[in-house]
Amino acid sequence: MTSYDGTLPLDGKVALVTGGSRGIGAATAVRLARAGADVAVTYVNGKEAAADAVRAVSSLGRRGVALRADSSDAGEAAGAVERTAEALGGLDVLVNNVGVGVLGPLASLSPDEVDRVLAVNVRGVFLASQAAAARMPEGGRIITIGTCMTQRVPGPGGTLYAMSKSALVGLTKALARELGSVGITANIVHPGPIDTDMNPADGPYAAGQVAMTALGRFGTVEEVAAMVVHLAGASYVTGAEFSVDGGHAA
Ligand SMILES: NC(=O)c1ccc[n+]([C@@H]2O[C@H](COP(=O)([O-])OP(=O)(O)OC[C@H]3O[C@@H](n4cnc5c(N)ncnc54)[C@H](OP(=O)(O)O)[C@@H]3O)[C@@H](O)[C@H]2O)c1
Repeated sequence: MTSYDGTLPLDGKVALVTGGSRGIGAATAVRLARAGADVAVTYVNGKEAAADAVRAVSSLGRRGVALRADSSDAGEAAGAVERTAEALGGLDVLVNNVGVGVLGPLASLSPDEVDRVLAVNVRGVFLASQAAAARMPEGGRIITIGTCMTQRVPGPGGTLYAMSKSALVGLTKALARELGSVGITANIVHPGPIDTDMNPADGPYAAGQVAMTALGRFGTVEEVAAMVVHLAGASYVTGAEFSVDGGHAA
């Protein structure tokens, strides 16, 4: 990853990873730091886990900061961007990683659940992206985590989650069009089944998910993080969708 002159691809850049205390977000934060970026992560309950992620960033010689910021709260979702810029001196890369998965039969989903999922998965992403776009210099990157279920819903129970994440595809394409003129890119990454607390590889629904992939296995957080960090350094890619799903959509 180091270039011939010894610099790293994200040297001097500042990144914010929402929901960066565990899972895909934590792996992405560490990988961004390995590529040279200073990194802020948000969390809600996992103070210790967020501190671990920051320690991992610091151990790579980069500055790290953990921010308690609940993405379901409009002010906190946007405020995390401002707090990152204050703490680390700007913002170049926003990774909209945070997301909640509420699955279940259509008839079982309450209006409160619909509101909560849309607040975190859609409104929070919109507001963070809006705040980031207002701050980012030319070369800014907005990278959003979607899901393979925006491309193929493998069975019942996914109405709310798939609806919320599908909104992010539209947001990403529209952001690309709106921000292209100021040199900011927007892309979306669709993970397949990835072994995390949200979706453990030994969980009750794991076998069915594995059966839907071409590679016949769960993915790792590192495999998603690698794509995100690639996009953080990609200057001529915008408005695009990237599957990291083991062939779930094939
Ligand atoms: N795992 C998969 O199979 C899979 C597949 C497709 C897409 N995805 C998507 O990938 C993203 C990451 O998933 P994951 O599996 O890594 O999830 P995870 O293991 O459940 O981790 C979720 C992270 O988000 C944070 N978080 C949760 N609610 C939050 C809120 N309201 N405000 C701020 N932070 C919050 C958690 O912080 P605390 O520690 O404070 O709780 C944690 O750091 C999500 O958008 C998810 O929808 C995952």
